[in-house]
Amino acid sequence: LITPVLLCGGSGTRLWPLSRKSYPKQFVPLMGEETLFQASARRLAGQTDSLRFAAPMVLTNSGFRFIVAEQLQAIGIDPGAILIEPEGRNTAPAVLAAALRAQAEDPGAVLLVAPSDHVVPDTAAFHAAVAKGLEAVAEGRLVTFGITPAHAETAYGYLELAALPGPDGAAVPLKQFVEKPDAARAADMLAAGNFKWNAGIFLFRAADIIAAFETHAPALTAPVQAALDQAQPDLGFLRLAPEPWGRAEDISIDYAVMEKAENLSVVPFDAAWSDLGGWDAVWRGSGPDAEGVVTSGGATAIDCRDTLLRADSERLEVVGIGLDGIMAVAMNDAVLVADKSRAQDVKLAVAALKKKG
Ligand code: GDD
Ligand code: MG
Repeated sequence: LITPVLLCGGSGTRLWPLSRKSYPKQFVPLMGEETLFQASARRLAGQTDSLRFAAPMVLTNSGFRFIVAEQLQAIGIDPGAILIEPEGRNTAPAVLAAALRAQAEDPGAVLLVAPSDHVVPDTAAFHAAVAKGLEAVAEGRLVTFGITPAHAETAYGYLELAALPGPDGAAVPLKQFVEKPDAARAADMLAAGNFKWNAGIFLFRAADIIAAFETHAPALTAPVQAALDQAQPDLGFLRLAPEPWGRAEDISIDYAVMEKAENLSVVPFDAAWSDLGGWDAVWRGSGPDAEGVVTSGGATAIDCRDTLLRADSERLEVVGIGLDGIMAVAMNDAVLVADKSRAQDVKLAVAALKKKG
């Protein structure tokens, strides 16, 4: 039995104007009808021949709690527990809280920690990779999933394999984990050939990750445990106690544990994966037509190429004529028009608007 732990505390500013602080990208239908959060929850529900998933644990913040509950209900998934963080302290405290709670309920609990904003279209391939990961987990390994790198990305973690993966897809021990390298180092790792991107999905026994925290980030355990011990139930949600939670260091699990742990293994994952970091990734993931055009909602492209054109509000018509290399996303109260090569700079729009007040 695997307990999914869905992380959905991030705010996704590079997908403005669709992704907002109050309603970030994991909760909006970016591609197709379902939201990324719903797709993530569904991917980790039910059972297959080799896997059985328990009700998911969700970690989020107060502002998203009703969205989380409604979106799960809409797809018929009963959450196990929805933990509310008084403030975002990044993924290390969140994962530790999930592990401590899971272990208190079941000392043998196995957790699959997953972001809620990724696209993984081939569920069967993903389940097969998780099944491979379970074999390593049984030996006390912390399992990561490795994507074949496509370019020298600096926004991801890199996994150096200690050996070449075999044809059976079994987990391979990790030599080192490098979180978010600079451009030069990313290029070196890409050229070296024995590195994968970290998919940001982790599989381990709760007891093993708790032990790893105790070894590599020992100051986190006391505040996180106290935040759980003093947590307040509230309408089916569990509110972590603000005072101890605020004492937990604000750090990602990648820096706090993964870069330091010595018992990491990686399961290669060769099927499609995207963390949908920006509109270029949405364009790619939406299946551009022969001219490289993607339209959605009430958007019409005439003689366009290499373009994303979206109308993201009801009864909104958007027409593009003769566009080339453009991304345009229109909503009732905000419109983005940008050069397609500037997808990562969309966060500048959010920063600029914030400054304007
Ligand atoms: N509950 C909660 N609380 N969730 C959080 C918090 C928090 O404070 N901070 C981030 N998250 C959620 C995000 O919503 C996302 O689903 C997930 O945790 C990962 O956080 P990101 O901030 O998106 O991490 P990243 O993309 O920079 O880096 C991670 O993912 C990459 C792959 O997409 C790392 O694991 C990298 O190594 C990895 O390559
Ligand atoms: Mg991310």
